[in-house]
Amino acid sequence: MKAIVQHRYGSADELALADIDRPAIGDDEVLIGGRAAGVDPSVWHIMEGKPYLIRAAGFGMRAPKTEVRGSDVAGVVEAVGAAVTRFTPGDEIFGMSAGSFAEFAVARPDRLALKPARLTFVEAAAMPTSGVTALQALRDRGSVKAGQRVLVIGAGGGVGSFAVQLAVDFGAHVTGVCGPAKTALVASLGAEEVIDYTRDEVDSKGARFDLIVDTAGNRPLSILRRALAPGGTLVLVGGEGGGALLGGISRNLKAGVVAPFVGQTLRGMLARGDSADLEYLAERAQAGAITPQVEQTFPLAHAADAVRRLADGHVAGKLVVTVP
Ligand SMILES: NC(=O)c1ccc[n+]([C@@H]2O[C@H](COP(=O)([O-])OP(=O)(O)OC[C@H]3O[C@@H](n4cnc5c(N)ncnc54)[C@H](OP(=O)(O)O)[C@@H]3O)[C@@H](O)[C@H]2O)c1
Repeated sequence: MKAIVQHRYGSADELALADIDRPAIGDDEVLIGGRAAGVDPSVWHIMEGKPYLIRAAGFGMRAPKTEVRGSDVAGVVEAVGAAVTRFTPGDEIFGMSAGSFAEFAVARPDRLALKPARLTFVEAAAMPTSGVTALQALRDRGSVKAGQRVLVIGAGGGVGSFAVQLAVDFGAHVTGVCGPAKTALVASLGAEEVIDYTRDEVDSKGARFDLIVDTAGNRPLSILRRALAPGGTLVLVGGEGGGALLGGISRNLKAGVVAPFVGQTLRGMLARGDSADLEYLAERAQAGAITPQVEQTFPLAHAADAVRRLADGHVAGKLVVTVP
């Protein structure tokens, strides 16, 4: 099968289209005929092996342990292992699968859900990691409630574009932060107010947000806390530009030190693949409450260009690699 492989850490120049064997599945695994693969920052972090913490976390100290890149998938179930009962061949599914930049990929059933009929494979492939992250940030880490004032930083990006739509769907009043090229997009997702970060800072109108979901910009905690109401909650999802060793995690560590001494809740998060959350997203997408925003698609052979574009840091919504 055709796949995008990589044998040493480095830039997108290390990614190559190759012919490799179709992966084998275990008893509790699903073989997916890939139609589309979402592009997530985790793909280029693993590709580069940075921040270095990633290597120690099990992705390979000197070189990537797995040769095929990709993390999110949408496609058709080709075969299932003997212990798999939730899916059968022919099911249209989406979810998380390491190695999704390939004609065939393997996933655990608890990382998959049935694709909502309203979405194309391309749209569904854009949803797993970013949608699940946004949902867990708002609901599990942020305890979002109807009527709250929610600030989403990075509102025009992968996680942010889902966070805005989901927060609106939860009944919150949403303010989105983005660059000038994306203010119309963020308003169209349901944000009642849009802050263009080149003109205004998030704390310029005082401590007014009950919940801040921060996906971008690496603003200092002091600025974020000035925008957060007393008793409010800050959820640090990510943000590029941290140090080579820890990346954005260094800010989470600081939040952990400060949190016990302030009246606000400051927390980081690590999203986890979860079929119930994928099913929730599928249901809300089918109902029309959320729609994945896809800026551009790239054919499998040009997956490296998709990763380069994502690394630029200003994608509107998501990029998706299409599999022939
Ligand atoms: N904790 C977790 O479990 C988890 C899970 C998934 C992702 N992440 C991390 O979360 C971060 C976001 O991921 P993503 O997929 O949403 O990335 P993304 O698609 O690249 O989105 C980031 C967005 O931030 C915007 N941005 C850049 N500088 C900004 C600034 N100063 N202020 C506000 N917005 C700014 C960019 O657009 P404009 O500047 O053009 O507006 C871009 O759309 C990444 O660091 C990723 O690694 C963490």
